[in-house]
Amino acid sequence: MKPWLQGTQCVGEKGQLEIGGCSTFQIAYDYGTPVHVIDEKFARQRMLEYVEAFEDSYGYSHVSFAGKSFLCSAWCYVLEQEGMGLDVCSQGELHVARKAGFPPEAITVHGCAKDREFLEAAIDYRVGRIVIDNLDEIRVISNLADQFDVKQGVLIRVVPGVDTHTQAKISTGAPNTKFGCHIVGGIATEGVREILDSPNLVFGGLHSHIGSSITDFQGFYDQIDEVLQFARAIEKDFKAEIPEVNIGGGLGIAYLPDEQVPTITEFVEAICSHFKASLEKYEVASKPQLSAEPGRSIIAPAGITLQKVCVVKKIPDGTVHVILDGGLSNNPRVVMYDAKYHMFLANRPQAQHDMRVTVSGSHCETDLIREDVLVPHDIRPGDIMVVQCTGAYGHVMSSNYNGTCRPAVILVNDGAANLIVQREEFDDLVYRDSVPARLLK
Ligand SMILES: Cc1ncc(COP(=O)(O)O)c(C=O)c1O
Repeated sequence: MKPWLQGTQCVGEKGQLEIGGCSTFQIAYDYGTPVHVIDEKFARQRMLEYVEAFEDSYGYSHVSFAGKSFLCSAWCYVLEQEGMGLDVCSQGELHVARKAGFPPEAITVHGCAKDREFLEAAIDYRVGRIVIDNLDEIRVISNLADQFDVKQGVLIRVVPGVDTHTQAKISTGAPNTKFGCHIVGGIATEGVREILDSPNLVFGGLHSHIGSSITDFQGFYDQIDEVLQFARAIEKDFKAEIPEVNIGGGLGIAYLPDEQVPTITEFVEAICSHFKASLEKYEVASKPQLSAEPGRSIIAPAGITLQKVCVVKKIPDGTVHVILDGGLSNNPRVVMYDAKYHMFLANRPQAQHDMRVTVSGSHCETDLIREDVLVPHDIRPGDIMVVQCTGAYGHVMSSNYNGTCRPAVILVNDGAANLIVQREEFDDLVYRDSVPARLLK
């Protein structure tokens, strides 16, 4: 069988899957399973592809990485080396960035329910921009900026009212969304007015994000049209310039071999060309910087998860169940979004994968990962399954469900396999516990 490979993956001399010049079997042996592995070279290539495509197609642009898709200290260093900005959507993500010394001016702060403590931490670190999600935030940020004696850069997140028809749980720009300030009804205009009236705030421009895993460009085109018409209205109403238009993230990837999806370059070229045409069409006078904040499309294909085959079981109806260690605790996307992943054996990828099985995780629900997976007929406990394209929303969504220790994350590059997030130990499962004295009697 010819396995479906990504990035630096290849079949090594020992007939095992290699990634970043490292044996996956060795990684599984050294660090235990499940384990997340990130192909550093491939992820860097994808960042560069974004940056270069924007540079070539529009010029005045900026790309930030959406930290919610994957984040840890080492990753902050990689992002900084690639000249990427970083989006954080919580005080916790900001903490990780700050601990790693990520340059504050390259941080964009998101969140649909930022409390005062989070905003204070952000301004205290002197983050470059805060994306305003509701009008109440404007007053809080303005007060804090006054207190810290800074002029705080802000963008306003507007609702373009575009339904992307992606998974409902990750469609975020539709008319009924909880995110951002609606253009329809005048909230967004009111927000811009308040920002412009606040002496401590610097109006940085408009932000919008329509959702994730999107492979059809029409939603992005509609988003751009709505936002640029609003930009024109702002220019007219307030004689204001629009310094930046940020279109968020959202580009999808191929999770399965037969899925046809646009490349990063195709996406950026299409977006930039539509953006330029719409600037003209709606007579926007400003020359805004065009920014994007992708997550999934950079890191998803650069990550794999290695999971051990624990049980192979044929049940009376003839179904063969293959049960892996881990499951929804290291990747809840299957349960949350019906996500489908490609899998094959990492320790013998070239073996004939000719038996159809149902692959599940080990958790206390069906924890189905996928039906109709082809595996070698002699698959057995101890084999290592590779689950492809788990780099995004895997590690960051992992949990301790069923008393599971969250997996390690290994960064591989040119033959080096480095631990960047340790595997949890059993004592980590009780370190937050406390037993009241009255129970100790
Ligand atoms: C505001 C914002 N920006 C960027 C992203 C990244 O999206 P994606 O990982 O699909 O590129 C998200 C994720 O949903 C988001 O909510």
